[in-house]
Amino acid sequence: MPATPSRPVSASAIDKHVYKVFPNDMNSHQTVFGGMIMAKCDRLALVVAERHSGHVCVTAAVDSMHFRAPAKGNDTLLFSLALNRSWGSSMEIGARVEAENSYTGECRHILSAFFTFVALDEHDKPVDVPAVKPETEAQKRRFDNAEIRREGRLETRRKLDGQ
Ligand SMILES: CC(C)(COP(=O)(O)OP(=O)(O)OC[C@H]1O[C@@H](n2cnc3c(N)ncnc32)[C@H](O)[C@@H]1OP(=O)(O)O)[C@@H](O)C(=O)NCCC(=O)NCCS
Repeated sequence: MPATPSRPVSASAIDKHVYKVFPNDMNSHQTVFGGMIMAKCDRLALVVAERHSGHVCVTAAVDSMHFRAPAKGNDTLLFSLALNRSWGSSMEIGARVEAENSYTGECRHILSAFFTFVALDEHDKPVDVPAVKPETEAQKRRFDNAEIRREGRLETRRKLDGQ
C-alpha cells in the first residue's frame, strides 16, 4: 500500500535547469568533464526524489548512463529530471541533459540516465513512498518502461546474490 495518495510527476520534476559552462568545467580534451555532469544529475535527481517522497533519500543505483555527444566550452547545459515510477521505498528518476548554444539556440542531446533512489526513515531504514500518477503520454510510456528496467535490476541482483 502506498504511504500517501499518488502524486503527479510535475510536482517533483525539474525542467531545463540551467548551468553555464566555464573554463574550469573542462577536461584535458577541452570538452566538458563528464564527472561534473554526472554529479550534477545525481544532485538534481536527489531533489526530485526528496520532493516526491518527503524523506531523506540515497542513491541506490544508476543505470544506462549514456554520453551521447560532448559538451563544449561556452555551452549552456540544460538538466531535466522527472520521476518515472515508484514502488515500495524506491523510485526511478530519468535524467536528460542537453547542451544549448545560447547564441544560436541550437540544442544537442548530451546525456541520458536512470537513477534509483531509496527513501529512508528516521532510523535510516527504507520507508514506503507515494505512488506516482503519470498524466501525459510521455509520462505513461516512461512509467511502463520503468517497470521493465526494474525487473532487469531485480533479476541481476538475484543472480549476483546467489553467487
Ligand atoms: C539503498 C539502501 C538503503 C538499500 O538498503 P537495503 O537494505 O538493500 O534495502 P532493501 O533490500 O529493503 O531494499 C529497499 C529498496 O531499495 C531497492 N534497492 C536496493 N538496492 C538496489 C539497487 N542496487 N538497485 C536498485 N534498487 C535497489 C530495493 O529494490 C527496494 O525497493 P522497493 O522498496 O521499492 O521494493 C542501502 O543499500 C544503502 O544504504 N546503500 C548506500 C546508499 C548510499 O550511501 N548512497 C550514496 C552513495 S555515495
